[in-house]
Amino acid sequence: MEYDIAVIPGDGIGPEVTGQALKVMEAAGRRFGFGLRCNVLPYGANHYLATGEILPASALAEIGSAKALLLGAVGDPRVPMGPLEQELLLAVRFHFDLYLNLRPARSLPRVRIPLKSLEPGQKIDLLVVRENTEDFYMGLGGRGTGDLRLPVKCRRGNYDLAGDINVKLTPGTEAAAALGVMTAPGVARITKKAFELAAKRGEKNIHVAGKANAVPSLYGFWDEKVALEAKKHPGMTFTPMNIDNLCYQLPRAPLDFGVILCPNLFGDIVSDLASALIGGLGLSPSANIGDGLCMFEPVHGSAPTIAGTGRANPLAAILSGALLLENLGETEAAQAVDAAVTGYLTHSPSLPYEIGGSSPAGQVGQTITGMVEAGE
Ligand code: IPM
Ligand code: MG
Repeated sequence: MEYDIAVIPGDGIGPEVTGQALKVMEAAGRRFGFGLRCNVLPYGANHYLATGEILPASALAEIGSAKALLLGAVGDPRVPMGPLEQELLLAVRFHFDLYLNLRPARSLPRVRIPLKSLEPGQKIDLLVVRENTEDFYMGLGGRGTGDLRLPVKCRRGNYDLAGDINVKLTPGTEAAAALGVMTAPGVARITKKAFELAAKRGEKNIHVAGKANAVPSLYGFWDEKVALEAKKHPGMTFTPMNIDNLCYQLPRAPLDFGVILCPNLFGDIVSDLASALIGGLGLSPSANIGDGLCMFEPVHGSAPTIAGTGRANPLAAILSGALLLENLGETEAAQAVDAAVTGYLTHSPSLPYEIGGSSPAGQVGQTITGMVEAGE
């Protein structure tokens, strides 16, 4: 059995960490009897600076013909913020309608966390379920002086939007605006997933981030549609929380939380907070799931200041690789990678820099590769 995997290592530490993830995944393949045929694609800041191209349509077609996409990171200080992220990372999320962004954050052995309130042995086990195609991420917006025109054009798996919003401003006033959109089917499908995932974890309640008190048109709608979907899940309940309160309560009592359902923008923020609570962004994997091709990437960014120094922690990318293998149906291989990461953190004499050790990324990946091969 051979799987076609598309890989976009991307920018900064992206190539270093995806390199290690692939090494570990290939070892899992050798042990469990499958191969990975990797199509490594050059897109990212270097390619953009050399060619002016971000992600051509042909690349989307190439990615679409693979079984999964592994992505490193996107973002480079030589390129203004925005276009690369929007036309590469977000373009992939939207093109394949990857509406479910799963961001687990779990306590890991020997990783120090910033909370003093937890007793030894108490474990954080969060699953941020982030809506991944709507809200303020849709790329709809504009700016102007005196006349604010917002062209609206986008396509999702279950609907299209097209048109224009025009706003007259007092002459001479300069302004900018972004359009956040939520649709009833968009909220319903992510809520359904959140309840299903909670049930699979043996939990009966989920927390739902919103902000209906300040932005009722958008987040009031979100709360209302979440409540509507909840009715279809008997035995399950939900606790709506304003995002500010959630950010306050989560570090105070992380054990009270399991599945946290978030609209896109709040999910981005809460997933970094969750990563901080378990000891670092370099430990947090993610899966972007839709009905077709899925993408796997660490939650962290390109970390340009440590790129090339060996200080990058490849564990988030390796754990993203485990999520990818799970998605391929290679459950045993995925569990073996997870187990090797846990075993490594428990026993290794040296750890990644991020968590107080001095092992360069390549050494971390090599050790875990050996453990996967040996079934440790
Ligand atoms: C993430 C990242 C992206 C996001 C950026 C790079 C656009 O922060 O995956 O969390 O905001 O979704
Ligand atoms: Mg983020």
